[in-house]
Amino acid sequence: MTNILVIGSTGQIGSELTMKLRREIAGSTVVAGYIPGAEPKGELKESGPAEICNVCDGSQIADIVRKYDIDTIYNLAALLSAVAERKPLMAWDIQMNGLINILEVAREHGCAVFTPSSIGSFGPGTPRDNTPQDTIQRPTSMYGVTKVATELLSDYYFHKYGVDTRSVRFPGLISYTTLPGGGTTDYAVDIYYSAVKGEEFACPLAAGTFMDMMYMPDALDAAVKIMQADPAKLIHRNSFNIASMSFDPEIVCAEIRKHYPDFRMRYEIDPVRQTIADSWPNRMDDSCARAEWGWEPSYDLASMTGDMILHLKEKLL
Ligand code: SER
Repeated sequence: MTNILVIGSTGQIGSELTMKLRREIAGSTVVAGYIPGAEPKGELKESGPAEICNVCDGSQIADIVRKYDIDTIYNLAALLSAVAERKPLMAWDIQMNGLINILEVAREHGCAVFTPSSIGSFGPGTPRDNTPQDTIQRPTSMYGVTKVATELLSDYYFHKYGVDTRSVRFPGLISYTTLPGGGTTDYAVDIYYSAVKGEEFACPLAAGTFMDMMYMPDALDAAVKIMQADPAKLIHRNSFNIASMSFDPEIVCAEIRKHYPDFRMRYEIDPVRQTIADSWPNRMDDSCARAEWGWEPSYDLASMTGDMILHLKEKLL
């Protein structure tokens, strides 16, 4: 990959992935695709080209692909799970109609495509612990429905047309640069902001709600590494389980208290998020990703917590 379009470049993942690609891929041109109202700012704006790129407008995507001779598209446009429950038609439009627009452009112009899937692609019928790579996927949220369909449609374009689609099922992503918007796992970001600001945290999920979580540097490594993997070694494509840590609110709170002994957390359960979280795995088995393309995370809960607090102190205090 050399000429790359990142769609959703100002979101939680995109804002960091765009910068990483610009830094690390030698000779690359990385175009920051954004929608009006979410323009790139600061370093993201200064360090490379940016173009308005609405996934619902296929001709806009095609124009950018032609203009920059794009060979790889990172499609990060999505409504997260809790927002998607409030706006299911919009979620469908962005996640499904947007995806097929991208896949059609990729088919015509020979681009590789990464569209993330998620722990949200699983449902209540999925085995909760050590969730296998290949298992039951019958999600009950609109977000999950679109993520399973994303996996299927991406595989379809690979098998039918040879479009080089690959992806991973992201856990809840924890980061300090850009906030996530409206996900079920957002509490695991928000809790760090509250701790560093010295505020009590109102946790929207109950004690005992375990989910896979991941620190952003590991997630970004996965997104780059999967697209650079030797295709001959890929048995799976859309999408790979990847995992690094699993915790519930009590465990992350206890870890934060090692740094802030007076940190306080109370429970204010959000029924929408709780229902979604209860339908997702506790911990995925990521052995296929490890075997097929060498996935290996660097951060556990303790090292992530130290790093998050360090960076949030710089940002907030
Ligand atoms: N973090 C996402 C969400 O909570 C799941 O992939 O919606």
